[in-house]
Amino acid sequence: MSHADDHEGTRRDFLYYATAGAGVVAAGAVAWPLVNQMNPSADVQALSSIRVDVSGVDEGTQLTVKWLGKPVFIRRRTQEEIEEANAVDVDTLPDPNARNANLDDDAPATDANRALPPAEGAEVANPEEWLVMMGVCTHLGCVPLGNAGDFGGWFCPCHGSHYDTAGRIRKGPAPENLPVPVAAFDGADTIVLG
Ligand code: FES
Repeated sequence: MSHADDHEGTRRDFLYYATAGAGVVAAGAVAWPLVNQMNPSADVQALSSIRVDVSGVDEGTQLTVKWLGKPVFIRRRTQEEIEEANAVDVDTLPDPNARNANLDDDAPATDANRALPPAEGAEVANPEEWLVMMGVCTHLGCVPLGNAGDFGGWFCPCHGSHYDTAGRIRKGPAPENLPVPVAAFDGADTIVLG
């Protein structure tokens, strides 16, 4: 699918990534080192920060975008998913660290510390509804599948790692929670990565 020039075309491409899943995103990742070699500074700068329009992401669905050659999962969670994540005692988690680049290194892996806060003043159903994290399994780097696994979050089929609805590792060989990158809302509908 080609990237159309108009806004609607861009939206379709994003949704295509979201439904087609990991394969499409991973294919892009292979091309990155080559681009990086040919034109380092310009490309790196252009891609080091991207803006993502999330106005078309409905509750209970996920958008996958490619950033710095890697997939980033942007999920608008349901109330149920948030409640499930909040019901877990952080001290019982295999990795009790939030792994959130926007917080202190020792921040605990509460659901609030994993979620992306809304823009100031934005009217939202739940301040913890957005979850943004790298779609790269912390075991050996496969791309986990969404809406899957024993905890209703993500499942990495490579060696069987189960992540919960906050992207925290719950079962399997992955040692850490899926990392939350530097990200912030800019207005109600745009997330800035990087
Ligand atoms: S790479 Fe995900 S479980 Fe091994």
